[in-house]
Amino acid sequence: MRTAFTEEYELDIPVASAGMAFVARAELVAAVSAAGGIGVLGGSAMPPALLEQEIAAVRAATDRRFGVNFIARFCQPEHIALCANLRVPVVSFFWDNPERAWVEELHAAGARVWMQVGSVDEAAGAVEMGADLVIAQGIEAGGHNRSTAATFCLVPAVVDMIAPVPVLAAGGIADGRGVVAAVALGADGAWIGTRFLASAEADAHRDYKARLVGAGPRGGGRGPPPLPPPGGGAPPSHPPGAARRRGRPRYGPAQGVRLGLPGRAGPGTSQPDRCRARRRRSAPAL
Ligand SMILES: Cc1cc2nc3c(=O)[nH]c(=O)nc-3n(C[C@H](O)[C@H](O)[C@H](O)COP(=O)(O)O)c2cc1C
Repeated sequence: MRTAFTEEYELDIPVASAGMAFVARAELVAAVSAAGGIGVLGGSAMPPALLEQEIAAVRAATDRRFGVNFIARFCQPEHIALCANLRVPVVSFFWDNPERAWVEELHAAGARVWMQVGSVDEAAGAVEMGADLVIAQGIEAGGHNRSTAATFCLVPAVVDMIAPVPVLAAGGIADGRGVVAAVALGADGAWIGTRFLASAEADAHRDYKARLVGAGPRGGGRGPPPLPPPGGGAPPSHPPGAARRRGRPRYGPAQGVRLGLPGRAGPGTSQPDRCRARRRRSAPAL
């Protein structure tokens, strides 16, 4: 399927994988880009040195375009400078507005800036800030979410508001039928998170993937938003590392539905898997 999005970014399919913090690391990003979509790194929890390594790992695996995502409040000027210096093709932001100076710096370095929004008003604001593409996130979407509209209600309204700026639909899209439906509503493609989280290449716990793969139409549910809204409120309750400190497993063997990037190591051979196996060997018996 060709859209303005596939044309502009030289893609085979109008699909972007969401920049999920912790989950969307180099292996997933490279797999999506190599498969003809565009993978986006979850850069929010990464110190600049780690982000640099991840960008290098993507580039080592594929020469296709990719992006880096930030929740703006976790982003420092160093992250922006790194993306600009390394000529990252796409930088996307969510939850808070990025600094205008960041948008200008990225544009000057040739990057496209994407912003994810949850309403028509936010979409107009993103365009005013200089967004080259807007992601319309409906209430079905996983992760941070403050939309009050269903994806397929929000998408045509955002498209009408900001045309000709390209729009990706986000929330509840998990296969080609969903992508086609989004395009029928005027979107230029889809920004997909949960489906990719269930992939072998995603850095998520195996039980999380198993719950997603096994879930049916009644399997969903939504908790309270994990971050306060922009412009105030308590500091975030889940700074990087908090999950680990609370004793939750950080890594799981990749057991999702494999996307299939040729030449990549299979499940059980990733560095986190090897580290975990070492920990198991050295742990005292219970
Ligand atoms: C586990 C998880 C983590 C996420 N983390 C981020 C993030 O760090 N930055 C971001 O912009 N969006 C994040 N999102 C939201 C996605 O950008 C996107 O809106 C959502 O995944 C789309 O809906 P879907 O999950 O139904 O495909 C996350 C989503 C999930 C499921």
